[in-house]
Amino acid sequence: MRPLPGAPGVAAAAALLLLLLPRAQADEHEHTYQDKEEVVLWMNTVGPYHNRQETYKYFSLPFCVGSKKSISHYHETLGEALQGVELEFSGLDIKFKDDVMPATYCEIDLDKEKRDAFVYAIKNHYWYQMYIDDLPIWGIVGEADENGEDYYLWTYKKLEIGFNGNRIVDVNLTSEGKVKLVPNTKIQMSYSVKWKKSDVKFEDRFDKYLDPSFFQHRIHWFSIFNSFMMVIFLVGLVSMILMRTLRKDYARYSKEEEMDDMDRDLGDEYGWKQVHGDVFRPSSHPLIFSSLIGSGCQIFAVSLIVIIVAMIEDLYTERGSMLSTAIFVYAATSPVNGYFGGSLYARQGGRRWIKQMFIGAFLIPAMVCGTAFFINFIAIYYHASRAIPFGTMVAVCCICFFVILPLNLVGTILGRNLSGQPNFPCRVNAVPRPIPEKKWFMEPAVIVCLGGILPFGSIFIEIPLSPNRRS
Ligand SMILES: *[C@@H]1O[C@H](CO)[C@@H](O)[C@H](O)[C@H]1NC(C)=O
Repeated sequence: MRPLPGAPGVAAAAALLLLLLPRAQADEHEHTYQDKEEVVLWMNTVGPYHNRQETYKYFSLPFCVGSKKSISHYHETLGEALQGVELEFSGLDIKFKDDVMPATYCEIDLDKEKRDAFVYAIKNHYWYQMYIDDLPIWGIVGEADENGEDYYLWTYKKLEIGFNGNRIVDVNLTSEGKVKLVPNTKIQMSYSVKWKKSDVKFEDRFDKYLDPSFFQHRIHWFSIFNSFMMVIFLVGLVSMILMRTLRKDYARYSKEEEMDDMDRDLGDEYGWKQVHGDVFRPSSHPLIFSSLIGSGCQIFAVSLIVIIVAMIEDLYTERGSMLSTAIFVYAATSPVNGYFGGSLYARQGGRRWIKQMFIGAFLIPAMVCGTAFFINFIAIYYHASRAIPFGTMVAVCCICFFVILPLNLVGTILGRNLSGQPNFPCRVNAVPRPIPEKKWFMEPAVIVCLGGILPFGSIFIEIPLSPNRRS
């Protein structure tokens, strides 16, 4: 694929930006219902409770589908596709404010193979997720008895839905009807729906999921506090050392002011002034250096904007909107990358600015996509729902070529013209100062390992090691 100049490129970019906008125009997304209007129960994913990253399609387990076949509209956004959301119609007949008495909706013909699938799921504490009007619902697939010989499936979904006016504000699921899994039997799946008036305001309907007791979020307050104090302590220590050195240097400089010119010129430079002749020397790899600086500036801008947007708009209330927003903001802030990367490259006297622009623009997308596509192969191998659809891959590539690249070009041109001239406060020495011999622990290989150990350690401690540890 090649960026096309002119109208087709612009049209493609505009279409992609529209695709990225998190809100799709469909009835379900307005969240208002008339009496007896169809309410869709979407089945999302199923996966082990102790590894929430591992998800499969709900119907990858041999569950059966309700009799209702008419599938209503469903539009998947880019963020949802990337996060492995796979909504499938449950086939359950639910109408707004219309109670359903306990009723069988389908039957599972349990042969040996299906039983094994369920037993595997129950052994691994599988749970499934559903959505009703964008409200998530979770349920457990089944249960084993104490000695782990008999396995039971929850067959009865008791839905209690709270409404306020013409909107759905609360959903509770109770799993009942424990049925023992015996090969070559039929298992009837049933459901009931009860509508209740609720006082919860529509705007507050997601608050119950934020309640710490709902998920038992294990927030390690102590460890967060610990790290925070450590950072403050280290910053304080380093700045104290720097201040002392600087003050000592200043004291010597001012003493020198009193000497005559002869004496001063003879003495060599010392203290922090030693760096002035080399600090603005072009780096040995200006191309990759300026691309990294530009990407860093862009990541900083993206994080800041996404955090602010997430605080202002409740992004968690809509599936995948956080990721969609992040991608949108990343594409939109490409000029930042071009500006800082391009201007730094120009100041360092780089000549191959087009190459720099390409590298700067694709450094982060290539790394992220490379990692994601690699994980994707594993996901496809295990048929996990995280596998990214082909269309989504194409969409991501199109965003890179038709949105990020042109915007980056704009930023690069601006950067080169506005601040591309080297205008340093001091001259660069013709001969580089010799750098003293490094100690063994200053070698790049050691520094890379040491730098990685701290973040790796803190992540490693947070991740539960044993799959059976109860949260
Ligand atoms: C759901 O359960 C919660 C807590 O038990 C309760 O306060 C709420 O009223 C229930 N909602 C509905 C619609 O039954």
